[in-house]
Amino acid sequence: MCGIVGYTGCSPAKDILIEGLQRLEYRGYDSAGIALQKDGALTVVHRVGKVEGLAQAVQSLDNDGTCGIGHTRWATHGVPAERNAHPHTSCNGDIAIVHNGIIENFMELRDALEARGHVFSSDTDTEVIAHLIEEAYAGDLYQAVRDACEQIVGAYGLAVVCAQEPGRIVVTRKDSPIVLAHGNGGSYVASDIIAVLDASRDVVVLGDDQFALMDADGIEYRDREGAVIEPKITHVDWDVDVAEKGGYPDFMLKEIHEQPRVVRDTLAGRLTNGALKIDELGLSLEELNLIDRVYVIACGTSYHAGLIAKQLIEGWARIPTEVEVASEFRYRNPIITPSTLVVAVSQSGETADTLAAIRDARIKGAKVFGITNVVGSPVARESDGVIYTKANKEIAVASTKSFLGQVVSLTLLALVLAQSKGKLSVSQIRLLFRELADTAEQIECILSDTSSIEEAAQACKDAHDALFIGRGMGAAICYEGALKLKEISYLHAEAYAAGEMKHGPIALLTPGFPVIVVATQSPVYDKIVSNIQESRARGAMIIAVATEGDEEIAKLADYVMYVPKVRDCFSAITATVPLQLFSRAIAVARGCDVDQPRNLAKSVTVE
Ligand code: F6R
Repeated sequence: MCGIVGYTGCSPAKDILIEGLQRLEYRGYDSAGIALQKDGALTVVHRVGKVEGLAQAVQSLDNDGTCGIGHTRWATHGVPAERNAHPHTSCNGDIAIVHNGIIENFMELRDALEARGHVFSSDTDTEVIAHLIEEAYAGDLYQAVRDACEQIVGAYGLAVVCAQEPGRIVVTRKDSPIVLAHGNGGSYVASDIIAVLDASRDVVVLGDDQFALMDADGIEYRDREGAVIEPKITHVDWDVDVAEKGGYPDFMLKEIHEQPRVVRDTLAGRLTNGALKIDELGLSLEELNLIDRVYVIACGTSYHAGLIAKQLIEGWARIPTEVEVASEFRYRNPIITPSTLVVAVSQSGETADTLAAIRDARIKGAKVFGITNVVGSPVARESDGVIYTKANKEIAVASTKSFLGQVVSLTLLALVLAQSKGKLSVSQIRLLFRELADTAEQIECILSDTSSIEEAAQACKDAHDALFIGRGMGAAICYEGALKLKEISYLHAEAYAAGEMKHGPIALLTPGFPVIVVATQSPVYDKIVSNIQESRARGAMIIAVATEGDEEIAKLADYVMYVPKVRDCFSAITATVPLQLFSRAIAVARGCDVDQPRNLAKSVTVE
């Protein structure tokens, strides 16, 4: 949450910072600001709202300083207001900092600093750091930042400039992402690779408690003791144009349309000589064979991918599998033994609760696999093995292509577990893998004509509430469908396993109430048809996701969104797509900002 950028080089910094902030805006968008260093002074500009407002304010700014830092905020401490926007400065205005994370002991630090005469101008936790650095500063910014970090408890990614140190930015981090790159006439820092790719494809992911001393000529890396260290270079092979809409009206639609590629890339090279391989897992087939319990831990949409994984792992590998939201898992005492596998699913790879759950599980002796979209992210680094979802950068705050990547990766994992347990034969695995790969083409087919989805969305756009119901795989997809709808359109939506309708939710139904039913071909198809009948009998408007050629559904539902026929175990992959498009179409019809819904941020790095 929150995006930070910094640049020092030979070009004016302000435009570079604004461009970087625009690429990071998905991380938070309630206020933004920059600090520019020039002629021994700092100039700070803040604006409430999106980066665009800041960009306009900065346009008329007569400052060609070539060193500066910037921030786009997701409020934690203090309301979205100019006084709470970063950068924050010291009393004398000579130190400016941008911060991503949370300082847990800020109250006591603030009290002590105020008692020593410091005057605060914001309600944030961050501002204490600027004052601590000011106190510690004796001509060496790096040393002062180190001293300040000794006193703070919490998570931070920090970039700091000082009026007295021209062209210098000091950077450090603990549990918040920081990426650096040098090239193209300067040194760049940001919370995310996407904002440093203009410098180089070779980037450095800063480690916890490491420091980076940036100037125009290069970046020096040091550990917490001050020793110079050799950075580990990560080569990025995707392009910066993922941060462009590529002709689509919004990132969400662009990303939905990328899903066939995500399926193909996630599966590429996995099946050789009839055997499935996920080398990155770091466990031999024999070690995998010992696993006797699986926990999938995740949050939000990633949790929904876990619900699908449970059915596949139990169905194919016959290993008891529990799915749990990370924020609950981390605070209970789950039964973990050395033969427990914990699968942590996180698009961003930096969700605070998921990371805490990984650490807890490892302490208790579990093996942990991460499934993430971000190379070098904390989830990747802290897991025993990792599968990358190959979705590439996801910009829209609501996950779509990364969800599909997670489901496909988890499906692969389920097949590998079944293979290692000898529960599926070579020919069964080969057949299932081929059908899994075929879903790429099936998604293309769904995307080629979305008229029926848009028609259904128009019919629902003025509703206040909606229910999503399904059974088996269909129920799991419904949770994701309802989340997608509420988060981007602000239409209240709930998901239920359809068999639960009679136990309460059916009381909600009134004439015209939208009930979205996942009714693809499955062993429980007849049961779901009965649920449709019950809802129809109460006057509900039925919107069904059904298998192509299903004429029966067409007679029962008011609107049908057809998907190609697939085996039930893969229906989550195809049936999700119309639900994503349906939510987006409703949000667009309601005039919502589909890429940046209110109150949300792409990475949830706070508890
Ligand atoms: C919803 C959405 C969120 C995330 C959740 C976990 O569209 O994107 O619910 O799934 O915040 O984030 P990650 O996967 O980054 O751990």
